[in-house]
Amino acid sequence: MNPYLEDFPILKSESNGKRLVYLDNAATTQHPVQVIDAVDGYYRTSNANPHRGLYGLSVKATQMYEDARHAVGEFIGAEKDSEIIFTRNATEALNLVAYSYGLNFLHEGDEIVLPVSEHHSNILPWQMVSKAKGAKLRYMYPDKSGRLTDEEINSKITGKTRLVAIAHVSNVLGTVNPVKKIIEKAHSVGAAVVLDCAQSIPHYKIDVKGLGADFIAFSGHKMLAPMGIGVLYGKGELLEKMPPFLTGGEMIEYVDENGATFAPLPQKFEAGTQNVGGAVGLGAAIKYIENVGYENIGKTEDGLLSYALGRFAELPHVTVYGDAKSAKERCGVISFNVDGVHPHDVATILDTDNVAIRAGHHCAQPLMHYLGVNATCRASLYFYNTKEDIDALAKSLKKVRGWLGLGD
Ligand SMILES: Cc1ncc(COP(=O)(O)O)c(C=O)c1O
Repeated sequence: MNPYLEDFPILKSESNGKRLVYLDNAATTQHPVQVIDAVDGYYRTSNANPHRGLYGLSVKATQMYEDARHAVGEFIGAEKDSEIIFTRNATEALNLVAYSYGLNFLHEGDEIVLPVSEHHSNILPWQMVSKAKGAKLRYMYPDKSGRLTDEEINSKITGKTRLVAIAHVSNVLGTVNPVKKIIEKAHSVGAAVVLDCAQSIPHYKIDVKGLGADFIAFSGHKMLAPMGIGVLYGKGELLEKMPPFLTGGEMIEYVDENGATFAPLPQKFEAGTQNVGGAVGLGAAIKYIENVGYENIGKTEDGLLSYALGRFAELPHVTVYGDAKSAKERCGVISFNVDGVHPHDVATILDTDNVAIRAGHHCAQPLMHYLGVNATCRASLYFYNTKEDIDALAKSLKKVRGWLGLGD
């Protein structure tokens, strides 16, 4: 029995007498009561517009918001709380870097290097910068196991590279990219690095100083927190010299009819009323993850992934993309297809057993083209999943082709 299951009310739910088997954690995770209660408590007792009011409730809301920022800063080892910018999600964090850093510090002929496996949220902002500034996009291509080889990294990151944008963990193949090596290489040629930790921070301890990345983006909702809160970490000296991304209330120091001066960090990048309830939820999620412990999360997930890869290997007519054999340097994200069946049909048939997986291009169409497919099915694990969940997935998958009259 997984000891954490008890904390997640939704995982006890049933449909047509079948318990929910939730295997879409790379899309969003579920919430423990500790997070639900923290958000509920904030709205019941502490809600007010932060940074504005001079009355007690607003001061309390401001304190809770800033406490959450401090918790995030400590969680990832930031030097200063002001290096933590709250955003809506990873997508907004990546856009902030592209609009504020990319448009102002990249120039014609500069090269932006990124893996072809990136999520659209870490491709489209750089396409925008490339078009606006005449910078060139250079893609790195993974090998058959989904990994970036040293040769590929060293041939793409060159003296012309000014920025490297890369996911720590692929949301399609589950590959853990060798980001420390890539950051060192990028810095050796004077390029900045934007690390997308949306799929890694739920599973691995992130230490911004140890990694040395210039920017790190992630979403709360993929790590037990509510939707609508995300984080951009940036090195203080870089954030200082970057202009605001969004403008308006809260981010100014002084405004007259013709212009404005801006608030210091982090407010310079937090225009408008912020998501205090979300930040409180993120603080509670961090506490929960720390209580479970990344070591425990890692052990549980490695065991589940090895078990799942074993079960997949037994399934005829199923192709797993990326590394189908080893749980090493790989996260519990398994993309696959069933011969002759569209991924949407697979997901719909699995849903009749209350098994929830994702099907589609996973916001990674360039990778889909590279893999030679339009779409895949994706089962993604978190520490609250169980072997029984994987057995339910395998059992349901076994019946897919039969349902469509294709034979087992
Ligand atoms: C690797 C990666 N980056 C970025 C995102 C975007 O996250 P969000 O939609 O929360 O902004 C996702 C979402 O699936 C992702 O997997």
